[in-house]
Amino acid sequence: METVLLTGGAGYIGSHTAVALLEAGYETVIADDLTNSEAGVIDRIKTITGRSPRFYNINVLDAAALDRVFEENEISAVLHFAGFKSVANSVKDPVGYYKNNVGTTITLLETMKKHGCGRFVFSSSATVYGCNNPIPYTEAMPTGSCASPYGWTKLVSERILFDAAVADSAFSAVILRYFNPIGAHESGLIGEKPNGVPDNLMPYITQLAAGKRDILRVFGSDYPTRDGTGVRDYIHVCDLAAGHLAALDYSRGHTGAEAFNLGTGRGVSVLELVRAFERVNGLSLPLEYAPRRPGDLAEYYADAGKAERVLGWRAEKTIDDMCRDSWRWQKNSENL
Ligand code: WQD
Repeated sequence: METVLLTGGAGYIGSHTAVALLEAGYETVIADDLTNSEAGVIDRIKTITGRSPRFYNINVLDAAALDRVFEENEISAVLHFAGFKSVANSVKDPVGYYKNNVGTTITLLETMKKHGCGRFVFSSSATVYGCNNPIPYTEAMPTGSCASPYGWTKLVSERILFDAAVADSAFSAVILRYFNPIGAHESGLIGEKPNGVPDNLMPYITQLAAGKRDILRVFGSDYPTRDGTGVRDYIHVCDLAAGHLAALDYSRGHTGAEAFNLGTGRGVSVLELVRAFERVNGLSLPLEYAPRRPGDLAEYYADAGKAERVLGWRAEKTIDDMCRDSWRWQKNSENL
């Protein structure tokens, strides 16, 4: 069976994809410097699947270290998750974000070329659609006018992949534009573990429910949406992982560069998500309305039809599943 390299494979999306790959019979190699994760995740991937990924504690910018990974393993394809993902931090340190997020893409492409590996699956983001497109977003829409340096690092990496595919007719790049990943594996052993105060809604909700936060500030109640609060396309991280396996299958007979939205195609508001979380978990969460957060859009969600037509993939899990699994992880993670 094929061996797949997951850069950032100890992270939130990467670890869930590693579980799915191992359960599907792939050999997996994880390269992660653990700046936004921990070695215990590797052990828990083994606990869940009964199989161990090979783990290299390296920074993907380190070309010599990455070269060794390819020397020591017959890598058939690369899933590139490694990257900084904080919108707020990217505004404070844009150069660091470009160096890391774009630099790792370049180092990977050079090393892959040297070792004859031509299949690249890229972790991109819906933020590449910027703020001028109508919803739902389709892959044919123009990209650009990104709201943050983080979004631009994803778009620049996409551009590099499109150009690399033109230069090398044997190269395959499958670009996956994530919407809002939330939830956790049903085991409660892996999940999102943000450093410090969470920027993102669901980890903030679960920390609030666990008594680690006092109140949820709802950023904006005057948006032109059905209840005035922001609307997003929340997708279960396990559905996202399954999307990567579908992308891997597609890349086997594919050359060129192709982008796919990985979303549910449904928009859910902040209030709707909070109410679902309360209902599913039998909790009541204190909240207050606060001013809009700078850079936020009122509403966006995916047209997920292309991934269904071409990859044969669509999201299966519900908002209730996402709320139940997120809460289980929050409670479990305190003992890990
Ligand atoms: C969702 C909604 C907030 C926190 C970000 C990144 C994006 C992607 C996913 C990486 C918005 C509201 C939030 C809070 C709130 N990450 N909110 N109170 O901003 O849609 O996307 O994460 O690829 O690139 O930009 O996600 O979870 O931060 O916000 O009211 O305490 O929840 O205003 O409407 P976002 P989010």
